[in-house]
Amino acid sequence: MPQDKSQSPVVEAVRAVSHRDHAPGRQLGITRDLISQVVHAFYDEIRADALLGPIFGKRIAPERWPAHLETMVEFWSSVLLLTGSYKGKPVPAHLQLGVEDAHFRHWLALFGQVTARLCTAEIAALFMERATRIADSLRFAIATAEAGDGPPRFPAPLAAGG
Ligand code: HEM
Repeated sequence: MPQDKSQSPVVEAVRAVSHRDHAPGRQLGITRDLISQVVHAFYDEIRADALLGPIFGKRIAPERWPAHLETMVEFWSSVLLLTGSYKGKPVPAHLQLGVEDAHFRHWLALFGQVTARLCTAEIAALFMERATRIADSLRFAIATAEAGDGPPRFPAPLAAGG
């Protein structure tokens, strides 16, 4: 009887390793430590920011910030290093925040400043490319949720090429 390869832990392990080796961030030398630095520096800026600080402050009590930062390190490790360690649900977290395009543009501008300060140009560009695409998918999900049973009014994409 032919062996079902998907059942083999060894095959799964090899597949997982080679998959991770090809993670976009690994090829540029991104480490979990760099991701952690970016996440911490970025949310320091966010918390002090006049536009975005209060929105985060309403949802995340001071004692929940360490857990949020940890979640965001796992999120970015999953995006850039394909660790699969982020298990959350981004869309529900962003519904009912009352955020509009101006908030997303400002989030991305702050993220751009932090990544430019802490990363090489190539790494900063990768962070920004992924952040912009994810921001768009959140914006489209928000538009869909806000439309209820009606047709959604999708915003113009922020990412180049749509
Ligand atoms: C207008 C811009 C944004 C605002 C105001 C915002 C706000 C928030 C808030 C308040 C939370 C915490 C929710 C909670 O724990 O109750 C959160 C979680 C999160 N955000 Fe954002 N966010 C924004 C944009 C983004 C973007 C662009 C990304 C990704 C590139 C992102 C990724 C995440 C992720 C992964 C979580 C964790 C969700 C979970 O698993 O619990 N956010 N955000």
